[in-house]
Amino acid sequence: NLAFFNERFMDPNERVLPVEERGLQFGDGVYEMIRLYRGVPFTLQEHLARLEQSAHSIMLTLPKTVEEIAAIVRAGIAQTKIAEGTVYIQVTRGTAPRNHLFPEDVAANLFIVWKEGVPDLGKQQEEGVVVFTFPDERWHNCYIKSICLLPNVLAKEKAHQRGGHEAIFIRDNEVKEGTSTNLFIVKDGVFKTPIADQSILNGITRQKIIEILKKQDVPVLETRLTMEDIEVADEVIITSTTQEAVPVVQVNDRKVGAGKPGAYFQKLAAWFQKEVD
Ligand code: PDD
Repeated sequence: NLAFFNERFMDPNERVLPVEERGLQFGDGVYEMIRLYRGVPFTLQEHLARLEQSAHSIMLTLPKTVEEIAAIVRAGIAQTKIAEGTVYIQVTRGTAPRNHLFPEDVAANLFIVWKEGVPDLGKQQEEGVVVFTFPDERWHNCYIKSICLLPNVLAKEKAHQRGGHEAIFIRDNEVKEGTSTNLFIVKDGVFKTPIADQSILNGITRQKIIEILKKQDVPVLETRLTMEDIEVADEVIITSTTQEAVPVVQVNDRKVGAGKPGAYFQKLAAWFQKEVD
């Protein structure tokens, strides 16, 4: 494993930050998580474009160009020789004495962490997972991939304590997304997923899956989804960079469809595998 801080590679356990850092004190930053398949960063350009948009949305300029960051990401992969793993990128507004106002002349901090290994999805994909719904207590700009993840952390922990795998956020009677995943349902052969407005993160995996479904001529709708839609769905699937696609077999105390991973999930998983191969 390897890390990078501003201008140099370093050991991920090295201490480089003073306590007075805006990411630490205010959650004043944005991030990306990228998956490596056989040493290749999957959809790297899409992730870096979203990083730039997230930064722009919080009035932050990336300390390096997207091309420079891509070059550092690749250099770290070459150095670590990681085949299956992840790259985490975080940019914060920088190091400065605590003050809500943007400090003058502060330099953004760029952190990158390369990590070998990925969670084994085998069991989850074979058996499916249980999720619990929670009121969406996050802010109104969830399209920004901000490092302020306290509501996400709390909801996921509560779901975990009930024996669940993920927490799904409900806002204004609409099903939105998981704490670190997007959500799809399948009903009568049609995939449906919430509209990527400001209330959810427009997942790169979500976008990739929509693209795959269109290519396969499987109907896919971006639409409002309610709990009633979930209750009558044939299948529910959650997606993310690190979880790819995982079938949901139970929402709260209610089984989804037949209570086991469905045929559309199997198809989708196979199509997705082809994309990353
Ligand atoms: N989470 N929704 C939220 C709130 C997320 O945090 C994520 C990603 C997604 C899926 O986005 P993508 O397909 O681009 O990974 C949806 C990352 C993996 C994380 O926080 O670790």
